[in-house]
Amino acid sequence: MSNQQVVKIGLLGLGTVGRGVYRILTENAQNIMQRSGLKIDIKKILVRDLTKKRGINVDEEILTTDINDIVDDPEINVVVEVLGGIEPALNYVLNSLNKGKSVVTANKDMVAVHGKELFAAAEANNCDLFFEASVAGGIPIIRTLKQSLAANNIEQVFGIINGTTNYMLTKMTREGCDFDEVLKEAQEKGYAEADPTSDIEGYDAARKIAILASIAFNTRVTLDDVYVEGITSISAEDIAYAKELGYIIKLLGIAKLTEEGIEVRVHPTLIPQEHPLSSVNDAFNAVFVRGDAVGDTMFYGQGAGELPTASAVVADIMDAARDIAKNVPGIIGCTCYDNKPIKPMSETKSRFYVRLLVLDKPGVLASIALVFGNKDVSLASVIQKDEEGSTAELVLITHETKEENLQDALLDIRQLSCVKNVANVIRVEG
Ligand code: NAP
Ligand code: HSE
Repeated sequence: MSNQQVVKIGLLGLGTVGRGVYRILTENAQNIMQRSGLKIDIKKILVRDLTKKRGINVDEEILTTDINDIVDDPEINVVVEVLGGIEPALNYVLNSLNKGKSVVTANKDMVAVHGKELFAAAEANNCDLFFEASVAGGIPIIRTLKQSLAANNIEQVFGIINGTTNYMLTKMTREGCDFDEVLKEAQEKGYAEADPTSDIEGYDAARKIAILASIAFNTRVTLDDVYVEGITSISAEDIAYAKELGYIIKLLGIAKLTEEGIEVRVHPTLIPQEHPLSSVNDAFNAVFVRGDAVGDTMFYGQGAGELPTASAVVADIMDAARDIAKNVPGIIGCTCYDNKPIKPMSETKSRFYVRLLVLDKPGVLASIALVFGNKDVSLASVIQKDEEGSTAELVLITHETKEENLQDALLDIRQLSCVKNVANVIRVEG
């Protein structure tokens, strides 16, 4: 039918990503039409404030503050949600799906917590629900896992999936500056938000790794399943010691399939300087995927920003529009058909970097080594530096050990009179 050659969309939000979507759909309209065989028209855009200056030339007639202008419009077939946050986005998206409209979203907060009900609504209404931009912005990782690597049993997915913290750690590594100084600069430059909690405490990465783990292991993994540690405890000293030992510190999102279940965690990690993720710097993201057939693969690019994020959103819009034109929406649905258990963090295994401030006197290292030994934690290397006066700094790297054993050993080490402070503990991978 000829009117299906035009697919009308409703855009919810005209902020950073919404503006990018508008720009790509207008500036690249010719290419988009040639590639998809469709004209994609933005019929309405939902905003909060109709008078706000937006820095782009949008026909004011299509702006609205009333969601019903979109959800109740039978001509609109695809709703694109780039509002952010859980409510009212969730309500708007569920209403759209329940009215038979396909949905494209960039909203990791919503997908990482409410994926199950969103997919149930999409399936019940035979609609597409696409969310490529919700993880790693412009990097095409969701479609890659769902489709391009579908022949594999995925063994691991891990990577740098938060640009703000990668920018900060890169700066600390290059310039030796401390956390607070670099956070201030990241905020001034617009990398970190005024409230940077979600980035620096690891929750942004946790939402993204929950989404990736769900797809990789065909099991619903939600934010609550993810063990989360941010980068606020990382100091210039830790970065310098890591360098001396041949490592770089990165905030990694890690999801692994083991015999005991799915490991899913976010924490600062020492990785060897020669590891491919070590050279992913500034605000860039990279995701490493290991499949049983394909082996190791890595995907690199910009994890945020107006046009990189909109690049992923618009590709999703084109797929949703194509499915509507061909009358096959819903063909790529939820892939969480399995129910693998989540492995408790205490059961996971890592190597560890442990930095201790201790009394500088004979027998101290031996007593610390004994406590580790009693808990079955074996030491791989030790560096000692003299601090001021009677204090020395000890940096230990362990062999691979169970998280529970390491934590038990640390409880006992904190009780030793020769230990002044356990300054930091960071997991080591690779
Ligand atoms: P943003 O700049 O804050 O824009 C949000 C837009 O939504 C604004 O236009 C705002 O309207 C509108 N809005 C918010 N709440 C509304 C409500 N209740 N009713 C009507 N309009 C409302 O956000 P963003 O950075 O574009 O992010 C959008 C989504 O993309 C989020 O889910 C985010 O996590 C995701 N994402 C962003 C990036 C990125 O680089 N920014 C990268 C990947 C994913 P007004 O303009 O009138 O205030
Ligand atoms: N705040 C995120 C980051 C971008 O720094 O990577 C949006 O996902």
